[in-house]
Amino acid sequence: MLSEKLVNAINDQIQFEYYSAFTYKAMQAFFETEDLPGMANWMNIQFQEEMDHAEKMFHFVCETGSKVNLMAIAAPQNEYNSILEVFEITLKHEQEVTSRINNLMDLAQQEKNHVAQIFLQWFITEQIEEEANVSQIIAKLKRVKDDGRGLMMIDQELEKRSAVPA
Ligand code: FEO
Repeated sequence: MLSEKLVNAINDQIQFEYYSAFTYKAMQAFFETEDLPGMANWMNIQFQEEMDHAEKMFHFVCETGSKVNLMAIAAPQNEYNSILEVFEITLKHEQEVTSRINNLMDLAQQEKNHVAQIFLQWFITEQIEEEANVSQIIAKLKRVKDDGRGLMMIDQELEKRSAVPA
């Protein structure tokens, strides 16, 4: 039901979703060592969501009668210079994911593959939220700058985030 080109492209994205998960786990580690449990929690939820995204794609490939080919996952960035830098990298990363999902949708449309288009629609919508959430955090961080009390309030807010099953 999927062309070889589409299967290869989705397999590529499965690998990128796992890489995204690794990236957010590394960011969690950074915040754990900085004693910012709320931000560490937020990144851990982000990690779980990326694992869910990979899982969703994994099952889609299998259910449509094709084969998943797993690929090596590169080491993520482990060192960061500031809290703001971590979230700015997160936003750039999510913008790249959005562009990749849009490319997948373009391919599904070119191939007139309706089932793939319906499947990818969930990811298109998900990316709106992914980018918006990070942008809001960046705006708050810029507002408080280096004010310790403000940072603590943001950290406490991010501690409330809980996993939403995909
Ligand atoms: Fe799988 Fe954050 O997009």
